[in-house]
Amino acid sequence: MNFSVDRRALVKTGLLGLGALSMPGTAAILTAQGFTHGVASGEPSQNSVLLWTRYAAANDTRLRAELARDINFTHIVGGGDVTARGETDHTAKITIGDLPANSWLYYRFVAPDGSMSRIGRTRTLPQGDVSRFGIGLFSCSNMGFGWFNAYGHAAKRNDIDLMIHVGDYFYEYNPGKYPDPSQAVPGRILQPDHETVTLADYRLRYAAYRLDEDLQALHAAFPMIARWDDHESANDSWKGGAENHQPDSEGGWSVRKAAAERAYREWLPVSDRPWDSYQIGTLATIFLPETRLTARTQQVDLASALKGKSDIQAALTRFRDTVWLDPSHRLMGADQEKWLFDGLAQSKKSGTQWQILAQQVVMGPLSAPSALTDWLPADAPAYVRQRAMVGLAAAKAGLPFNFDSWDGYPVDRNRLYEAALGADADLIVLAGDSHNAWGNNLLHGTDRVGVEFAGHSVTSPGYEAYFQAVSPTRTAKALIETNPGLAFCDTSRRGYVSLDVKPDAVDGTWHFMSTIREHNLALDTSKNMRVRPGVRMLEEI
Ligand SMILES: [Fe+2]
Repeated sequence: MNFSVDRRALVKTGLLGLGALSMPGTAAILTAQGFTHGVASGEPSQNSVLLWTRYAAANDTRLRAELARDINFTHIVGGGDVTARGETDHTAKITIGDLPANSWLYYRFVAPDGSMSRIGRTRTLPQGDVSRFGIGLFSCSNMGFGWFNAYGHAAKRNDIDLMIHVGDYFYEYNPGKYPDPSQAVPGRILQPDHETVTLADYRLRYAAYRLDEDLQALHAAFPMIARWDDHESANDSWKGGAENHQPDSEGGWSVRKAAAERAYREWLPVSDRPWDSYQIGTLATIFLPETRLTARTQQVDLASALKGKSDIQAALTRFRDTVWLDPSHRLMGADQEKWLFDGLAQSKKSGTQWQILAQQVVMGPLSAPSALTDWLPADAPAYVRQRAMVGLAAAKAGLPFNFDSWDGYPVDRNRLYEAALGADADLIVLAGDSHNAWGNNLLHGTDRVGVEFAGHSVTSPGYEAYFQAVSPTRTAKALIETNPGLAFCDTSRRGYVSLDVKPDAVDGTWHFMSTIREHNLALDTSKNMRVRPGVRMLEEI
């Protein structure tokens, strides 16, 4: 089924609003009226779906939501009234129930003056036996680095049922920081013109991002389930702070964190539920946890532990055995772990084939290859060189490279592995955050726990930004030789992942876009890998 809405018709009726402007400034965004940012849907169940829009007006405005089986809205199947309020930045969300299961549906919002939002398409989840379910996976879309071609490409597909965004939906930095001016793509200009710290800042950043036509198209064409990672608040955030949060100049973290969470919940098609699961008939359970702001303790700091130490080897061993393996160092809290571990067991016990854990950070371990420091160009910045040297020293002591991922929380990872093994789960982990594509076999000692499809970024730069002198092929070969669970990686290209979930196999595909530096939806290449029930190992296909 093709889904397209006549753009000329929208322009003619004046409904395109801000979308008609290629890159409006702050004033235009703040003063726009009516339906300013299209529509979105999310959190589907067998009989309900959450619908989202934004309607800006001087006063709070009551909108009518309509859901129909057809794009002409002849066969209405549900609806309801919802108010777009100034106190929620004029966004409006409504969950419509009593819907038919396993159905593609069209929806729109109608304002009191008769004006209408663009038409969106969504679907309810299937129940019973399901022969196939398609998933799209996205992460790390930094507007300054390029065009959201991955979103635009996926928006035109008709073999995906549900989009999942595992975070870094936007980046909080001030323009000029990440990307720096030499990396920035012309025309991809951000508002506000400073780092997002306050509620007004976060709201404006969402308002700027959500004008992107590819992102709007993706939201309009598919339901999405979404969870923030760190950049929706601040880089490397944890429950009590963030690397990119300076309390002295930016105020208390709890205030900033609350502002970031509030703006996210206003602007994304999500409810207030902290974590959730989705049942795809007997085919799969999708778990969507929260690993960033609820319970995560501060990332361990190896560089500081080594500072001033003359016996580096002894310091590394001490760090590994005391700090890194400290059981009080947590990624998920006890109540969320219980929810997840009980859920894995219950899913399997009820006869569900696949247990899909859609979360933020890479789970498979990654140690630095010994050639790492040789790869750095002579003019590599000091911080990059230092990070590489620390990574190398860490690898020699059996420590990982990135302590912000599951690699930094090994006790929690082991507990999750044991829960998955105890449940006899067919575990498939999905991740983002790293900006690169990884296919991991998750190993616990000699046990195979499951597999991981870790998605590359929509635009944010990956390892290639640090190791420009080394070919991605050589990088991948060295990484795979160093890391026993790593089956595939690509450290140079942007895009997204799709999953073809069937009872007898899950095929994952990393789609690599031809470019992000211009608006072009062409695909370069793709890479496929498969996992079959009970095998818990990626196969080439
Ligand atoms: Fe990112």
